[in-house]
Amino acid sequence: MTLDAAILGALRAAPWVSGAELSSRLGVTRAAIWARIEELRSLGYEVEASPHSGYRLLGCPDRLHADDLTSRIGAVRVVGRDIRVFQETSSTSDILEKLARDGVREGLVVFAESQTRGRGRLGRQWVSPPGRGIWFSVLLRPVLRPQAATRLTVAAATALARALRREVPLRPEIKWPNDLMIHGRKVAGVLTELSGELDSVRHVILGIGINANLDRDDLPSALHTTATSLKLELGRSIDRASLAAAILQELDAAYACVTDDRFAILADEWSSQCTTLGRDVSVLSGNRRLVGRAESLDSEGALLVRTQFGRLERVVGGDVTLEK
Ligand code: BTN
Repeated sequence: MTLDAAILGALRAAPWVSGAELSSRLGVTRAAIWARIEELRSLGYEVEASPHSGYRLLGCPDRLHADDLTSRIGAVRVVGRDIRVFQETSSTSDILEKLARDGVREGLVVFAESQTRGRGRLGRQWVSPPGRGIWFSVLLRPVLRPQAATRLTVAAATALARALRREVPLRPEIKWPNDLMIHGRKVAGVLTELSGELDSVRHVILGIGINANLDRDDLPSALHTTATSLKLELGRSIDRASLAAAILQELDAAYACVTDDRFAILADEWSSQCTTLGRDVSVLSGNRRLVGRAESLDSEGALLVRTQFGRLERVVGGDVTLEK
C-alpha cells in the first residue's frame, strides 16, 4: 500500500489522527506526512490540521483516485489488490488486455474518468463522458473451462446489484445476463471478454460500466427510453468513489464464490433478482432468433429457455428481449 493510501485509511478510521501517530505507524517523518497531506489537499482532499489534535478528513473530491480506492476497500483477496486510474483512455478493457498479455497478475483493476471508444456487448458503443460514470475493467485468471465463464458474468451482475443496494436506496433488477436495471431501464452493464484455448481460460477481462451521475443529455437520444443513470433515478448525484469501492469489495467476494466452487450461492441470489426468469423472451444470437420462456439458470450460468416447440435450449450469449 502506498503512503497516501495508508494516510487516507488512517484518516477515515478515526475522527482525528496526530502527525506523531501517523509518523510512527507508517515509519516516516512528520515532515513527510505533512508533505503527503499537502499533496492530497492539492488533489482536492479537504484535510484540517490542528496543532492540538492533528489531522482530520473533512471531504473528498469527486474524482477516482487509486490510493483513495485502495484505502476504502481494505483487505481484498484478489479484485482490487492493484488499482490504476487513467483520466482518459480508448477503453479500459483495451489497456487491461495489453497488460494481461504482459503477464500482470490477476486482480488488477483499471478505471478511466472517460473513454473515447468505450464498448458494450455485441459491438455496441458505450458512452463514457468524463467524471460522470464508473468505467473500469478487471483482470481475472480463473482456472475454468471456457463454457463456465458465464459464471463470471453472473458473479459480476450479482456483485453490482449487492453494491448498489448497499450504497443507494434503489432496488436494482438483473436482466440476463448482465444488465442492471432500475425501473425497467438499464443503469449498468458488464462486458465479459475471454482469452484462452478450447479447454481452458487464459484470462478474462470484465469490463463494467455504471451510469452514475449522467444527466439526460449525456445519454444519446436513442437511449432516452431504455437507459438511465443513478442520478436521474435518485434526483441527486452519488458518491462515485464510495460506490466504486463497494463494487470492488463485492466483486472480490463474488469471485471467491466462483473460484471456491460456491457458485450455487450466487446463482440463487442472482435468480431472485432476475427479471428474465419466468418471462417470455426473444433471444437474438447472431442471425438466430429463439422465442420461448426463460425457465432457469444452469450450473454454469447459462439461461435455459423452453422454446415454443417444447425444447429446452441453452443460451450463453445474445440479446434478450422481454416479451409482454
Ligand atoms: C454492456 O453492453 O452492457 C456492457 C457495457 C460495458 C461497458 C464497460 S465501461 C468499462 C469497460 N470498457 C469498455 O470499453 N467497456 C466496458
